Amino acid sequence: MKERNRERARALRELAQQGGGPERAEKQHAQGKLTARERLHLLLDDGSFHELDAFVMHRCRDFGMAERRTPSDGVVTGWGDIDGRRVCVFSQDFTVEGGSLSASNAAKICKIMDLALKTGYPIIGLNDSGGARIQEGVASLGGYSDIFLRNTLASGVVPQISAILGPCAGGAVYSPAITDFNFMVDGASYMFVTGPNVVKVVTHEEVTSEQLGGARTHNTKSGVAHFMARNDRECLEQIRRLVSYLPLNNVEDPPRTPCDDPAERADPELASIVPENSEKPYDMKEVIRRVADRDSFFEVHEHYAQNIVVGFARLAGRPVGIVANQPAVLAGCLDTHSSLKAARFIRFLDCFNIPIVTFVDVPGFLPGTVQEWGGIIKHGAKLLYAYCEATVPKLTVITRKAYGGAYAVMSSKHIRGDLNLAWPSAEIAVMGAKSAVEIIFKREIAAASDPRAAEAARAAEYSELFANPFTAAERGYIDDVIEEPATRRILIDGLALLAGKRDRNPAKKHGNIPL
Ligand code: HXC
Repeated sequence: MKERNRERARALRELAQQGGGPERAEKQHAQGKLTARERLHLLLDDGSFHELDAFVMHRCRDFGMAERRTPSDGVVTGWGDIDGRRVCVFSQDFTVEGGSLSASNAAKICKIMDLALKTGYPIIGLNDSGGARIQEGVASLGGYSDIFLRNTLASGVVPQISAILGPCAGGAVYSPAITDFNFMVDGASYMFVTGPNVVKVVTHEEVTSEQLGGARTHNTKSGVAHFMARNDRECLEQIRRLVSYLPLNNVEDPPRTPCDDPAERADPELASIVPENSEKPYDMKEVIRRVADRDSFFEVHEHYAQNIVVGFARLAGRPVGIVANQPAVLAGCLDTHSSLKAARFIRFLDCFNIPIVTFVDVPGFLPGTVQEWGGIIKHGAKLLYAYCEATVPKLTVITRKAYGGAYAVMSSKHIRGDLNLAWPSAEIAVMGAKSAVEIIFKREIAAASDPRAAEAARAAEYSELFANPFTAAERGYIDDVIEEPATRRILIDGLALLAGKRDRNPAKKHGNIPL
């Protein structure tokens, strides 16, 4: 009996390994995609994968499904390691019923999510599915809803990462949407709530799947995706890299790694990176790369709302989250998209004990009807709220402009910035000199024999008084005016000081971020 069961277990396991069989696997390869198990093999350290529920099969008897039962039922679940650190995973198998979600298949995903939540390990979902298992109907809707609930309960407890490696349509999109980061593969994946056929009927728009919800669309236009890879392999490498910056759960600190880039490394080039003419752009990513540990900057949302830059980096081996205005795009103005992008990232960092390093060069909020009607007030408020609420170490470097409301929002002292530094090129004021004198010297300028000269003289006077770091430093709004080349060393020392920081918000069920 024992021997027979042993044989049976082996045979079932072998069937599970084969998924939908070599033909369907070949079809997957022909589309440039890997199979569910090949993906897990690349994602996880060699030999570390432990599968659960390989024997699970669906229980549907309708539409000839009783004869179509594959062990594992279209999703491979279990746990394994990334660089020796444990993660829980599920990988939808498109070769079995199109990776569609049956009740049993959903129960497998829920089981591994529950395990991740109980044990404090990140959840990584590799999505490649035709959606709800059509033969099962409402049972599969229940399955999706069970997953959404778990995504929500796990949010802020363990990092949740989704990769979209094929179709992801209809309500199925809402699981990845709740997770912290979405990866997509260019030309091979798409996400939409309703597909091109429905769109055509309802809005008469002709659009391809790729245009409607491909990797480029979601990385550039909607911001739904945070990363874009050229193929599955690159995507899985990117996920491994992301995990290297993250703690496994919200009660751990992020992993510190050995660093051979000297902490005291001064960078003389930083002294000339900000142009003399304060209207001229420069690339803030250059500042970040020069300050952070060599090759440690890992940008998130690289293609979306490029007027703000967010990403992970390390300082003396300690992971930090970077938020930086980008003067090379829209002069670094804050707008609706950049506010949302940064706010969500800051909240992630705060959930997972990752210090925030902010580089500021912001002339203000972008004016115009598009912005006002698009809700810049509520979206800008999200960014403000996220910074105010964050209790992780907050270090700020003002490289140039910090004007008006944007000064306050960008991790200023007033909203619990721990270490607020300014370069000598900093301009901290309520508004730009030209706009300011147009208001306060309106009558004087109008009455002058040469109004232009009068305006220029008053603007020069205003700049002299306010377009510098000292008015703010006098009041202690800035802790120090530092030499640019020393930025790295000072931030590293600051991080070490703040490593033991304890701060908390008033007890409450949860706040009401202006959504
Ligand atoms: C059952 C499915 C399936 C599904 C695909 N298959 N989707 N089986 N339920 N949802 C099966 C196919 O029958 C086929 O089986 C195999 O998977 C591969 O599918 P193909 O169509 O041959 O692949 P391809 O040409 O690449 O097209 C992929 C696809 C298409 C675009 C995803 O399969 C498709 O449109 N599927 C249906 C999508 C859909 O409408 N899903 C329901 C959405 S509603 P064989 O045996 O031939 O290999 C939803 C609600 C969620 O998801 C609500 C949450 C609250």
